[in-house]
Amino acid sequence: MRRKVIVGNWKMNMNLHQSQKLVSEILNGLGKESKVELILCPPFTSLFEVNSLIKNTNVKLGAQNMYFEESGAFTGEVSAEMLKSVGCEYVIIGHSERRVIFNEPDELINKKLKAALSNDLKPIFCIGELLENRENGQTIQVISNQLNKGLDGITSEEIKRITIAYEPVWAIGTGKTATPLQAQEVHLFIRESVAKKYSSSVGENLVIQYGGSVKPENSGELLSQKDIDGALVGGACLKADSFLSIIASA
Ligand code: PGA
Repeated sequence: MRRKVIVGNWKMNMNLHQSQKLVSEILNGLGKESKVELILCPPFTSLFEVNSLIKNTNVKLGAQNMYFEESGAFTGEVSAEMLKSVGCEYVIIGHSERRVIFNEPDELINKKLKAALSNDLKPIFCIGELLENRENGQTIQVISNQLNKGLDGITSEEIKRITIAYEPVWAIGTGKTATPLQAQEVHLFIRESVAKKYSSSVGENLVIQYGGSVKPENSGELLSQKDIDGALVGGACLKADSFLSIIASA
């Protein structure tokens, strides 16, 4: 049985004070027996503080990005080891905002995945097609390409520590959500591709989250699809009540 994983991607939101407030509201509203794995990904500037607030809870900490080099003259970048030192267990890699706004190519994303894995971080590897890809019938081709290039050289032991997030770019922050069937179709393709590259048991155990305008009104139906194992939530994770409703629906 795959676990359900809900990730809150705060993006470039929440200063230190706002982060403290949001985390305490989330912790106050969480059921004690929640079976859902919950991962918070605040901005770098709040990681240390959020880590201390979630100590002694089951909530996990993740970062939104990292660089693949270990240290050195890379102004403005943060290494995997730095993230570990402030309590991160997870790191989002290849988010479409990194790919589109900051021009991150698949080759860079592949290096980041490898660096995260060799530093014992668990990557949340994001893939997804643009609107024009979907309209031109190229969704599967784009996803396949991102998977092949992103996972190039990743071993069958390493893939077990990777979570994949399918995020159609046209659904991110737009209010447009993929229908549960559109999402399920791509999730199944991802699972089958990973099974073919590695093994059927790796495919079967792979956690694949959906992301793109997930909100309390649609999370239940999305999460009830056979191959949707969780959600990567942006906008709706910035308010404790909507985030808690999404967690409850999982
Ligand atoms: P959204 O963002 O929920 O605001 O669409 C999701 C994401 O980009 O991870």
